[in-house]
Amino acid sequence: MIIAANLKTNLTRVQTLEYVNKLEAFLTANNSSQEVLVFPATSSLNTHAGKVIVGAQNAYPTTNGAFTGETGVEQLNEFGIKTILIGHSERRHVLGETQQFIAQKFDFYKQLGFKIVYCVGEPLEIRKSGEANMMEYINAQYVGIDVHYENLIIAYEPVWAIGTGLTPTLEDIESLHAKLKEKSTAPLLYGGSVKLSNIEEVLALKSVDGVLVGGASLIVEDFSQMTAIAQNLQK
Ligand code: PGA
Repeated sequence: MIIAANLKTNLTRVQTLEYVNKLEAFLTANNSSQEVLVFPATSSLNTHAGKVIVGAQNAYPTTNGAFTGETGVEQLNEFGIKTILIGHSERRHVLGETQQFIAQKFDFYKQLGFKIVYCVGEPLEIRKSGEANMMEYINAQYVGIDVHYENLIIAYEPVWAIGTGLTPTLEDIESLHAKLKEKSTAPLLYGGSVKLSNIEEVLALKSVDGVLVGGASLIVEDFSQMTAIAQNLQK
């Protein structure tokens, strides 16, 4: 399965190095066969050889140039980064990225062969407005996205479940994932308040191929344990 940690704007460069090294040692000691991804803050990116795949939380669709404050492929290449998170709800809703821009970014990194973890998910008011509205909202997040891209991983993350401790019921996750599986055969992760106490039941769901973990991934021992739970499930 795919077990991913989104560290967001947390941990320093030194702390991240320690985090990745501890996680790597754990995966090796446990002979883990899980696909483990870690997305550190941009300033904490570093080269890493081993089982842990280090990816960028964000980058601009450019090789280099005049884009103050942004990061391009040239900077990612320095650390051998070939994996990127695109469409995360915080980029959509806090940073104001439009679907058009997200699709442009997707296309740019697809052309370069990056592994793309592409996030979709609805805010609470949309969920409350009914199933049809909710699917319409989520469908719009697929516009301009090549769902057949071979290095694509999709993450379904309801906005209202991110960092809130709230999660949809297991039935709701399963039924929504089943619908998203009809749209793309790419591996499908669930994200939103995944933690040690609920990861097993989420991973056990038929249409869940892994998880994207934010807050609960910050403690490396906990995140390591999550990879072990995935390993034990032998899914
Ligand atoms: P959370 O975040 O696990 O803290 O809810 C998930 C995410 O934003 O990817």
